[in-house]
Amino acid sequence: MRSSNLFPVVTLAIAAVAALAGCDERPFDQIRERQRLEAERAAAVALAAKAPPKVVLDPTDVAIYKALPKAYESLKNPITEEKVTLGRMLYFEPRLSGSQTLSCNSCHDLATYGVDNQATSLGHKGQRGGRNSPTVYNAAGNMAQFWDGRAEDVEAQAKGPILNPIEMAAPSAEYVVKVLKSIPEYVTRFKAAFPTDKEPVSYDNLARSIGAFERRLLTPTRWDQFLAGDPGALTEPEKAGFAKFAKLGCPTCHNGSNVGGALYQKLGLVNAYADQSDLGRFAVTKNDADKMFFRVPTLRNVEKSWPYFHKGQLKTLEETVRTMAHHQLGVELKDDEIASIVTWLKTLTGEAPAEYIKKPALPPSTDKTPKPVID
Ligand code: HEC
Ligand code: HEC
Repeated sequence: MRSSNLFPVVTLAIAAVAALAGCDERPFDQIRERQRLEAERAAAVALAAKAPPKVVLDPTDVAIYKALPKAYESLKNPITEEKVTLGRMLYFEPRLSGSQTLSCNSCHDLATYGVDNQATSLGHKGQRGGRNSPTVYNAAGNMAQFWDGRAEDVEAQAKGPILNPIEMAAPSAEYVVKVLKSIPEYVTRFKAAFPTDKEPVSYDNLARSIGAFERRLLTPTRWDQFLAGDPGALTEPEKAGFAKFAKLGCPTCHNGSNVGGALYQKLGLVNAYADQSDLGRFAVTKNDADKMFFRVPTLRNVEKSWPYFHKGQLKTLEETVRTMAHHQLGVELKDDEIASIVTWLKTLTGEAPAEYIKKPALPPSTDKTPKPVID
């Protein structure tokens, strides 16, 4: 026995003697102090065992993601300040619609993450279309537009809803151009945005302006800071949620700078999805192999873009994550796994600069401006 092991025995003996003698309290103090220290150490060990280990992410899981750029540029439609300023006005312009009451912002409210939070949107005369309105934020970075990808880019997309009879229901592109030409400020602004065009005020240039505005409609978040190399930008539970998402295989479809938007995939890949009333991409290609294929949606701002799926079938994010795991991967998730994934998904909620999305003053109509089309 080494002398150190004798120490407690010796102290106890001294303490006992001291107690019997009833003279000196110090040895008891020493015992209490030692007991206190040991208890403290045991508590620290127990706490360390309980604390979750630091989450170490697999670099290959992270490598398939990219931080948002400053803007989603286009060679075909270079972004200029003049186009963006005009595009913003047109985005909020109800006079592009047949009733002169509906604008892009009616269904893609920039103040509510570019959506209307309705299963399907309310259009001309209260009609509803068959699909949920996706967010316009970051949409310019998607490989194609609409749930079925039928428009190639945001410029091509912008021409659709204005003339769609159940959306903005303008009677014709000529009507829209006539409205714009009747308002002097618009004529000036189109000339400034398209200085080399013979006919600056045109339906195509309207689409180019709105497109240029949308190309900067991006919502960076802490996720982007994390991807840019700041590991402290996410909390440990958020990293754990991402690790879960990655290991399950969700990134096969939800990847890239938009965490989605980069490919067409089948809804019901492993377990068939019951509601097959909208066959998605098949409507565009008429190819049987495309039945139930949809352009994978972005998961940026998904916390705020409820309800989910192409018809707004699902109300909560938790229910949607559970459904995805079942139908796309054949995995049944437990509630705590879902909660963990949702914790990470919420880090994808970003913000566009308030100044950029502020509704601008719109120039007044003149007596040349065509009247709303009542029917
Ligand atoms: C009446 C509601 C309504 C109005 C008004 C409207 N949209 Fe939409 N928007 C929708 C719906 C619904 C979809 C999805 C349709 C589909 O996929 O078939 C959509 C799709 C889009 C998309 C595709 C996003 C993506 O990720 O695929 C963009 C971009 C967009 N709209 C921008 C606009 C712009 C710009 C305007 C104004 C010119 C506009 N919308 C007006 C309802 C509306
Ligand atoms: C095989 C491809 C694929 C896989 C794997 C996949 N998804 Fe999806 N995801 C899709 C498609 C396609 C949609 C659109 C479905 C629709 O609208 O009808 C979608 C939609 C979503 C939505 C709703 C977005 C919205 O705006 O409506 C969320 C949330 C989502 N997925 C999360 C996940 C999670 C979490 C996982 C892993 C458990 C996952 N996804 C795995 C293809 C996939």
